[in-house]
Formats: sequence, C-alpha cells, structure tokens
Amino acid sequence: MTVKIEREVLESLLTMASFVEARDAYTGGHAWRVSQYGKLLAEEMGLAKDDVFVVRLGGLVHDLGKVGVSDTVLNKKGALTNDEFALMHQHPEAGVAALGDHPLAAIVREAILEHHERYDGEGYPTRRPGASLTVIGRILGVADAFDAMTSTRAYRAGMTGDRAIAIVTEEAGRQFDPAAAEAMASLFRDGALSHVLGHAGEEHLMLNCPVCGPMIAPSEDAHDGDTTVCPSCRGRFALHRHGETFDLELQEVTTTLYMPQPDRRAVRSVLSALPSRRLKVREAVDRS
Ligand SMILES: [Fe+2]
Repeated sequence: MTVKIEREVLESLLTMASFVEARDAYTGGHAWRVSQYGKLLAEEMGLAKDDVFVVRLGGLVHDLGKVGVSDTVLNKKGALTNDEFALMHQHPEAGVAALGDHPLAAIVREAILEHHERYDGEGYPTRRPGASLTVIGRILGVADAFDAMTSTRAYRAGMTGDRAIAIVTEEAGRQFDPAAAEAMASLFRDGALSHVLGHAGEEHLMLNCPVCGPMIAPSEDAHDGDTTVCPSCRGRFALHRHGETFDLELQEVTTTLYMPQPDRRAVRSVLSALPSRRLKVREAVDRS
C-alpha cells in the first residue's frame, strides 16, 4: 500500500503527538529519543528508506494514546495498582482511536498498537507473538523499553546504558525481537547511541530535576543565567553553565500553567527526512 504525504498534514500529526509530552511530565524528550533509537535500529537492520522513515515517525507518535490516561495514573509518583495498570495498558488502543481517520493513520498505526507487544506474546494490548508483529513494532518495542530503563522517574533513577543493554540482551527472544536486540547492543557498543541517551532533542540536553528527579529539558538555546521550569514539580531553576551541561538552582515553585511547545527542530528534521511524497507502507499483518 502507498500513502500520499502532504507536508502540512504530516506537520499536523507531529504537533498532535507533541501534546502527549505536555501531559506526561516524566518523559520530556521520550518520543524524540524513541524515534532516534528506532531510526538507528532500522538502518542497522537494513530496512528500506520508507520503513526507516515510518519507524522514525512512529517513534514520535507511539504514545499518542496517553492523552486518554488520567493525570492521577499518568503522573503517579509510585507503583501503579493492578487496576491502574489495566487503564495504562489501553493507551495503544486509545492512540489508534485518537488518530481516528487522520489521513496518515495507516503509516503510524502499527507503531502505536505494537510498541508494548512482546516477542514471546506476553505483551499488550493483543498478546500477539513477535512473528505476527510488524518489524516497525518490534523495533519500537526495543527503543521504547531502552529509553524507559535509562530515564529517571520520580520514584527511581534511570539505569546506565550498560545495564539497560545487558537487560535488552538477556530479554532477546523473550521481551524483544532477537535481531532488534542484537542491533541495539551493537549500536551501543559502537557509541552510536550516545548523542541520544540523556538528550531531549538534537544538541538538546536533559537534566535531572534536583527536587523531584524527573527530567528537565532546557530550551535548545539556553544560556548561563537563564531559568527553566520543571514540568513535574513546577520548580523554577536558574541554569548555571557547568562545562557541557548546567547546574540547576531552585528559585521558586511556580503555580503558572505549563506552556508546552512542539519540538520544532524535531518536526523540521522529520519533514526533511521524508524520502518521497508517496510512502510504501507495510500491511497491518506483516510477517517479515
Ligand atoms: Fe507506550
């Protein structure tokens, strides 16, 4: 199947996807990192250009359904109950529902639906085994889990890349597609993930909030002496340049509304990577 791509429609989809990060304060830059890991994996595994683009776009859009999960569950500072997990486990299907009849739905549907499935068929929402998932879903499953493991949450620090890769390798053939897991380990060994790990965008740093733990992504052109607000605890921090990065100094806890903005550089970068105006898309049940 081929899908015609209008730039403006693609841009609107990316803007829609960026609303998720406004709701989910813990995951600043998550979609960008999953997209980048996915792209690198797809290239490493030798996928066609159109598929690499679909993975990249799918990474940005995969958690769209989180807009349907309530704040109490989405931003809970602690482990979820079984009922809360059951709600959270519906976000892939909520994402497809949120997409509705969007003209580009066919391109990102599998990324949204399959990124929490497992190779051994124990994932969600459908518990379909790896052989019946698209390669897009299998790649994004590894990319998403690797980023979740290496990201700091309010209730735990992120793992090191080494530890997360050891788990990816251990889980090859269980949680993860063996080829995608091997490709991820090989990229990590080659240092090819280091510009993504701990970043929220191209040359866009991630910092741990010194008050609540989750990530803060100061704006791309942040300077020494600027301030930034943590989307989770709403603390305003002064940025003090410290070599390549910044130290954060708490100034006040704000009560103002968080003003989310789409990552324009990521949007531009995806638009410029579009291989052609007509994209070849894998059918829903693809056994490659
Ligand atoms: Fe997800």
